[in-house]
Amino acid sequence: MPQEDKEQGSYDISIVRPQMRAEDFKIRGRDMEPARRASIRKGLLTLHTLELMASNIYKFQLTAENCDRNRYLIAAMCNEMTHYQDFQIKLYEFGFKPNPFRWAFWMVGFVFGFGSRMLGVKAILKTGIWVESKAVEHYAELLETIDWDDETRRVVEKNQADEDGHISRWRQLLAAK
Ligand SMILES: [Fe+2]
Ligand SMILES: [Fe+2]
Repeated sequence: MPQEDKEQGSYDISIVRPQMRAEDFKIRGRDMEPARRASIRKGLLTLHTLELMASNIYKFQLTAENCDRNRYLIAAMCNEMTHYQDFQIKLYEFGFKPNPFRWAFWMVGFVFGFGSRMLGVKAILKTGIWVESKAVEHYAELLETIDWDDETRRVVEKNQADEDGHISRWRQLLAAK
């Protein structure tokens, strides 16, 4: 699917942090086949740890400068924190636990975020584009290979659309440089 179509698809990426009501939380997947559950668990663990890395990248790319880039970085950080919450909620709904070694991804996010910030604005934007492109590919693979339940699939698809939106934003800012 061309990138523009996906962005203009059924997901509103201008909603940075979708609302969750009390009744949206569910106990899930307890009657699923073990193999299906195992693949969902693997997918959620991957996405959960990657989102921790992503939120840290943007957090450490932020500066105190009064500019649009920082405003977009704050929104992107919030969006990644939301993705992180989304997958943590889904892990527990399915009866799984997060990866206890995810702090390693926190470190990787710090290295990419702080490292690119030291190298300047172009490096900040290029790092965002590179990491998000990898993320979109990863999301596509997990959407294709895992038999998600419909509600979880919609969360994964919305979050993938958000990552696509981040790529477009950073490309736009980079083109203006
Ligand atoms: Fe994300
Ligand atoms: Fe993103």
